[in-house]
Amino acid sequence: MFNIHQTKAGAHARRIRMPKVNISPDKKLLHPAEWAPRIFADSAAYSDIEPLFRAGIITGITTNPTLMKKAGAKSWAEAEKISRDLLKLVSPFPVSLELTELTREKMIEQARLLDSWGDNVVVKVPVGGYPDVDPSFDPYTGLKVIHALWEMDIRTNATLIFNSTQAFWAANAGATYVSPFLGRMADYAYKNDHPERPPGNCLYWIEDHKNTKADQMVFNTEYVASGGPRKDIGVRLIQEISVVFTNYDIHCQILAASLRNFAQVSECLLAGADVLTVPTQVLEQVPFHPLTQAGMKTFFEDSKVFDK
Ligand code: G3P
Repeated sequence: MFNIHQTKAGAHARRIRMPKVNISPDKKLLHPAEWAPRIFADSAAYSDIEPLFRAGIITGITTNPTLMKKAGAKSWAEAEKISRDLLKLVSPFPVSLELTELTREKMIEQARLLDSWGDNVVVKVPVGGYPDVDPSFDPYTGLKVIHALWEMDIRTNATLIFNSTQAFWAANAGATYVSPFLGRMADYAYKNDHPERPPGNCLYWIEDHKNTKADQMVFNTEYVASGGPRKDIGVRLIQEISVVFTNYDIHCQILAASLRNFAQVSECLLAGADVLTVPTQVLEQVPFHPLTQAGMKTFFEDSKVFDK
């Protein structure tokens, strides 16, 4: 488990310098969570998102090509239709739409196209270069695109973030949001941990650099530097980014992504996330607690006496 005292005062100071999340313009009863983290739906499925949006549970959406495919898109035209419907549904709240091109010029061109679909578009840009899928590999592609879009006043969400340095680099390039994938990070840790060592150890306990296989090459020196056992390495990542952004007064929003369960949702709130993008099936778990169920059962039973 991480140490929450590292983020408490600083995160508060940082949040209250950002735009208010819940505004109560003509109301006597002011909203109690004006600077609270926002909750987005990590989904492209309109039918799942609509009721959550109408109920005021989510105020934004993040998508990616996998989620678009899951939502039924089989062509670019269908992906456009899904995107436009989502943009219209939650306007003026943001919808992240991900680039699928791989080179700087084409990505910028595609970003301009996506941006033309609505005022609430946020262009999702994978950080790094993409050597596995792009033969012309330029390691700075993502950062160059983020910077170029910042110069054009186009909001970006730097995605596929797995360490605090990537997050800092993206913010420095001009990203509006960074999306650390804490669930994938935790999945990796749980799969690759040495059982006899503290949880999360695989991400910072690389003993033999020369013979490390490609899928073990996770260079997370910051985890070594910060030290201490930790339960959920993914949430730890959120906290580290929060500390860096707080220390340097960086207003790029930390969008905690790839959430797997409600425990991670709670921990992200403690760790200093600005936005939590949550799959709809995880969102449904959040209000549930067995003691809430048991308590309500008793209250309901006892309330029957009033009917007599
Ligand atoms: O927003 C990023 C998210 O969609 C990735 O989640 O579940 O594919 O790791 P996942």
